Amino acid sequence: MSFRAVVAGCGAYLPERILTNNDLAKLVDTSDEWIRDRTGIRERHIAAEDQRTSDLAVEAARAAMKDAGVTAADIDLIVVATATPDLTFPATAAIVQSKLGVKQGAAFDLQAVCSGFVYALSTVEKFLACGQHKRALLIGAETFSRILDWTDRSTCVLFGDGAGAFVVEAVEEKVADERGVIASYLRCDGDLVDLLYVDGGVSSTGTAGHVRMQGNKVFREAVTRISEAMETVARQAGVAPTDIDWFVPHQANERIIQGVVRKLDLRPDQVISTISGQGNTSAASIPLAYCQGVADGRIKKGDLVMLEAMGGGITWGAALLRA
Ligand code: UT7
Repeated sequence: MSFRAVVAGCGAYLPERILTNNDLAKLVDTSDEWIRDRTGIRERHIAAEDQRTSDLAVEAARAAMKDAGVTAADIDLIVVATATPDLTFPATAAIVQSKLGVKQGAAFDLQAVCSGFVYALSTVEKFLACGQHKRALLIGAETFSRILDWTDRSTCVLFGDGAGAFVVEAVEEKVADERGVIASYLRCDGDLVDLLYVDGGVSSTGTAGHVRMQGNKVFREAVTRISEAMETVARQAGVAPTDIDWFVPHQANERIIQGVVRKLDLRPDQVISTISGQGNTSAASIPLAYCQGVADGRIKKGDLVMLEAMGGGITWGAALLRA
């Protein structure tokens, strides 16, 4: 029997505390105008001191489970896409499993930084399509505020904390009504590690480290690589990029998003953008934006939705799904 991986529900969580561009201008030599003009970001959310990545993940997961109408007993796979885990081990997914009271199935983390959610969706789709698991919780959750160098204006203004989650269900092909993940395409170019990385780790410094980025070099790579990934996925699915209903991009920079829109002849009103109020929440940005689109009534059942991301690695990729 073959199955399709259908998004049955989604959920979002943003920590209460908001850090505005003007707040940041008190910390480093920057301005609201520079940040808005160069990135599109106005403010971002920051986790409370006692909030861990798993806490954010659990809030988003609960909202997604409620949206899908499922309980802990229905989940048999938890994948957390994160670059900011609670602990070096076990996986944040294991901690989330316990906090949610899920007693069966498997749980693991997936690390592809900002591309983590696309990588994880592609992975989960395979687990469900082959019938190994029935219903997955797919969560993108990050506390990037913990690995920012708050004296480095070139990075600390860009990121925020948050979590987003999908409940993804294996639905028999013949009753899926063409809904679900249709195609995905993942890439990595490890020769570009130096463009975006964290300068610490277990086997190197023994510390968590801080984000380092050659932003303009990443920027130069972004539009071309992202557009190619989206074109590849569209080709695999037998559609044109312009056939999609909604474009849910990773939210790194409004100028990158608009560059992709122009390159692929999309309409600006097809974009679900959350960057202004959230900044770059890494692996959480796509499910957060998707949930926004669903919550405000833009993304409806049956719509064709393109997701894309690019991040440290350099990793990048795209996925096409029918909502
Ligand atoms: O999610 C993972 C993937 N990440 C991305 O896709 C990020 C991609 N990169 C970017 O979004 C952009 O490159 C940035 C927003 C990070 C930077 O924008 P940019 O237009 O590429 O600026 P730049 O790095 O070329 O810097 C231009 C100037 C520099 O000053 P000088 O050398 O021209 O005097 C920087 O020092 O802007 C300066 N600058 C700032 N000025 C005020 C850098 N950061 C700031 C700041 N406030 N926060």
